[in-house]
Amino acid sequence: MILAYLFLALLLLLALAYALLPFFRQAQPFPESPRPEELRAELGVLKSLAQEAEGEERKRLLAQAVRLERQLAELGENPVPPPRRLSPVTLGAVALSLVALGVGLWAYTVPRLPGETIITSRNEARELGNLQRRAEQSGQAADWLAYADKAYELQDFERAVQGYLKVVELEPRNPRAVRRIGVLLFMSGRPQEGVQALELAVRAEPDVAEGWLFLGNAYFQLGRPAEAIVAWEGYLKAGGEARQQVLNLIQTAKEQQTATSRGRQVYLAHCAACHGAQAQGGTGPRLQGNPIRKVPEALREIILKGRGQMPAIPLSEADLQALLPYLGGL
Ligand code: HEC
Repeated sequence: MILAYLFLALLLLLALAYALLPFFRQAQPFPESPRPEELRAELGVLKSLAQEAEGEERKRLLAQAVRLERQLAELGENPVPPPRRLSPVTLGAVALSLVALGVGLWAYTVPRLPGETIITSRNEARELGNLQRRAEQSGQAADWLAYADKAYELQDFERAVQGYLKVVELEPRNPRAVRRIGVLLFMSGRPQEGVQALELAVRAEPDVAEGWLFLGNAYFQLGRPAEAIVAWEGYLKAGGEARQQVLNLIQTAKEQQTATSRGRQVYLAHCAACHGAQAQGGTGPRLQGNPIRKVPEALREIILKGRGQMPAIPLSEADLQALLPYLGGL
């Protein structure tokens, strides 16, 4: 239905473009040919001049008059087409199509929800509105949950958050709402807070795969691969559907984990004595959160050549390769 409508709208637009095209056409590259009246006036002047002139001058003027006469004759055969004007019929058609287009756009695009596309049917928006009204009237957690779930399904995450927060207000331990809040926190770039909600959620409902998946994602984003692996294994145990993807994620986390742990070993062996086991600082300055740790070339220079009170530390290339990313993650 919507496709058919879009097609129709396209046709109307094309018709409109066709009707209006002459008005937007560029000016002719050549000057317009002279009008017959002008030619005739010029001819009259020429003739009277020729009558008064003598000899060569008279011949020249007459020759010019003949040329003009010829030009006039040609014009008589192919008159210059009058400029195109819009007929009332075309105007009517254009106006009608504009009205149809406007009505159609209004019908299919208003009201729009955030994230809603023209394809999303208005029925869904209406359904969501009804659910919201019902929840507001009853004030029941179950009704707010239905509303929030619908918004989540429609990817209207702003409304979904509002709905789930209402549920938690009424039922602070509602596992579904807590879980979804965790998911939404993670998706909005707040993995730290997401982890807190998701940890609660998987404890309450260990057999729901979604909670484990996002808990793993959040841990991983926080640079905690070991915990991410445990959470993702929880997802597989709960029968999550995206098996292969999650197996790949676990693989990636394992690789990162070995790299990280190797980097940590090098750190503990060569740096911790002065900079502290947690890089919190000691004899040497604090490295945790120190902007310098994100500049591998500077680190390499300081480590291999030493600086001030810090002696040069001759590490192998392999040890450096493990250490630098570890420092970067501190
Ligand atoms: C013997 C103690 C000691 C050891 C071992 C040591 N450092 Fe240092 N480190 C220092 C001291 C002291 C400074 C401050 C140097 C200065 O600026 O005078 C320093 C400075 C640094 C700085 C510069 C910090 C800044 O903010 O400018 C980095 C980076 C650094 N160390 C990394 C390392 C790494 C990596 C290792 C291990 C491979 C390591 N250090 C081992 C004592 C040590």
